[in-house]
Amino acid sequence: MKNITLLSLVAATVLFTGCGEDAKKAATDAATAATETVKESTANAVDATKDVAKDTASSAMDSVKDAASSVVDSVKGKAAEVTTAAKVEAEKIAAAAAEKVGEVKVAAEAKAADAAQALKDRAAAATESAKETATNAMDSVKDAAAATTAAAGAAVDSVKETASETVEVAKEAVTADNAAGKAAYAKCAGCHGADGKTKALGKSAVIAGQSATELASALAEYKAGTRNVAGMGMLMKGQVASMSDEDMKAVAAYISAL
Ligand code: HEC
Repeated sequence: MKNITLLSLVAATVLFTGCGEDAKKAATDAATAATETVKESTANAVDATKDVAKDTASSAMDSVKDAASSVVDSVKGKAAEVTTAAKVEAEKIAAAAAEKVGEVKVAAEAKAADAAQALKDRAAAATESAKETATNAMDSVKDAAAATTAAAGAAVDSVKETASETVEVAKEAVTADNAAGKAAYAKCAGCHGADGKTKALGKSAVIAGQSATELASALAEYKAGTRNVAGMGMLMKGQVASMSDEDMKAVAAYISAL
């Protein structure tokens, strides 16, 4: 634009300086025309520039819009991707966590089972040892009881033996040392039997085996006339009337030893 204006001015000046009156007029016209042309082209150029600017602005707007929209789209896409990726990651984490939980559960169950087994084993062992202890205790109690029983039996046997020996010795002693009693019984044997086991006249009780005390007191009662068991008290009174207390005690001791 500046170039065109400059050229027109230069041409006008050249024409203006180089020619006469007509030439001057022609040059002035040309200059005027050139100036018009310059004005017009300037106006056109301005319009064109305006249009271009408008277009440029509009297209810039459009491209900005497009760019913005594509940015939005891409952001959306990115966001979607990120969301998807996040979801996937979250699912992975959840799956891993679930797996861990499962593993922990299994491990815990296994541990619990082990612990339960250990407790069972311990209880069984304790029961076993308690049983054993009880059995041992029972055995030792049994042994002790058996030993005690045996000892008691032996003791009883030895006591019995000693007692029977003592009784034998006593009997022998009484019989041997009781010559007076034996002599006194001589007149009794006719009715009560030599062994004292005859019921005298079929009426009296058996006198052998009664205690010396019982026999002595029975004889004393007959002598005193206060005893009459089978209606023959008077008969017995006659038998013992001449006997002293010593005689009656001696014969009572003799009869009890029969
Ligand atoms: C003739 C036979 C006869 C003669 C001998 C005789 N007794 Fe007896 N005796 C009897 C009769 C019968 C009775 C039962 C008396 C009564 O009814 O309580 C008796 C009773 C007894 C009893 C009491 C028995 C009882 O458990 O109730 C004694 C003890 C006894 N005589 C000892 C003797 C002695 C000791 C002699 C010798 C010193 C002797 N007798 C001589 C016949 C006899």
